[in-house]
Amino acid sequence: MNIIVTGGAGFIGSNFVHHVYRERPDWHITVLDALTYAGNSKNLEGLDPERVTFVHGDITEAELVDSLVKDHDAVIHYAAESHNDNSLSNPRPFLDTNLIGTFTILEAVRKHGKRLHHVSTDEVYGDLELDDPARFTEKTPYNPSSPYSATKAGSDHLVRAWTRSFGVQATISNCSNNYGPYQHVEKFIPRQITEVLEGRQPKLYGKGENVRDWIHTEDHSSAVLTILEKGKIGETYLIGADGEKDNKTVIEMILTAMGKDASDYEHVADRPGHDMRYAIDSTKLRNELGWQPAYTDFDAGLKATIQWYTDNTDWWQPQKAETEAKYAK
Ligand code: NAD
Ligand code: DAU
Repeated sequence: MNIIVTGGAGFIGSNFVHHVYRERPDWHITVLDALTYAGNSKNLEGLDPERVTFVHGDITEAELVDSLVKDHDAVIHYAAESHNDNSLSNPRPFLDTNLIGTFTILEAVRKHGKRLHHVSTDEVYGDLELDDPARFTEKTPYNPSSPYSATKAGSDHLVRAWTRSFGVQATISNCSNNYGPYQHVEKFIPRQITEVLEGRQPKLYGKGENVRDWIHTEDHSSAVLTILEKGKIGETYLIGADGEKDNKTVIEMILTAMGKDASDYEHVADRPGHDMRYAIDSTKLRNELGWQPAYTDFDAGLKATIQWYTDNTDWWQPQKAETEAKYAK
């Protein structure tokens, strides 16, 4: 297989590149990434250039995308503007990348008859109440809350329309909150770890009752690879690892693991329109494709992630001041 990974210099995309590099040694990977503030070529250091080619480019550039897609077997599409808070302060790049970028890829795979896997999020379904026993399934109606999730929902609809109307060979996955190495410090878990490492208090939005369904990024990668190889064209698969935790609990776990008092955090203003709870039912993926998560010990995964940020200050420090300045604004 000769695959393109869009957004392969970002958090989840680069973890997927490392996963495929290990698991499928005879595959060639082309990473297409614009290296926005969220992309980092260091995420791909140490990979053999014979097996991984890096192309610095934008997924909205039709000619570039077309010329790459023509010579590959499949596109695994991770590139996106991914942060909810940014989408509230400046939504425009979300429309450009998440909608026009996905459209551009769809036109190229349609023209050249190539396989597409579109990586999406559970946020397209909106949120659940804390006391609701339900979890999201592939049949849950779309109801996105933020500009980010609305553009991801739109991109999913584009993929379905191109599949049905033009016969594009696509699958879609919607995954819950990822954690692990290489995650930008704007996101919840790395932000709190790096705040503690810099001697400041973690920042909890509102009361911290909001629940996220945490999955280790390695499990997301193995699920996407499974869908790419065994998924049925035209189908959607939800990816989750039964990792529901409220934000307050996660902050307390981080503080305790870092040798601090569990209550040593500050409450800050809540996110407007903040989704209350996400929860994934991944029965379809498990039963139909035989996938299972392997990294389900959240406490151990969190400790390993804390260790990674502690050992890799050179990786995150250049992003940190700018990120906190953005939050302060
Ligand atoms: P990220 O922000 O860490 O990385 C995004 C990558 O895309 C960066 O490398 C960036 O440079 C690149 N990119 C952005 N715009 C581009 C453009 N126009 N052209 C080319 N490259 C561009 O994001 P992430 O957290 O790794 O998320 C990756 C994908 O997974 C996204 O599609 C996101 O919606 C989805 N997802 C994320 C999560 C999560 O918990 N983070 C969960 C489910 C799904
Ligand atoms: O569910 C999947 C989604 O998970 C992905 O589609 C998104 O790309 C990804 O960013 C993530 O979205 P969230 O908005 O859930 O993640 P974030 O890390 O921004 O926040 C997680 C929770 O923590 C959320 O309830 C807001 C809260 N939070 C966040 C930050 C940055 C805080 O309490 N304090 C903070 O400083």
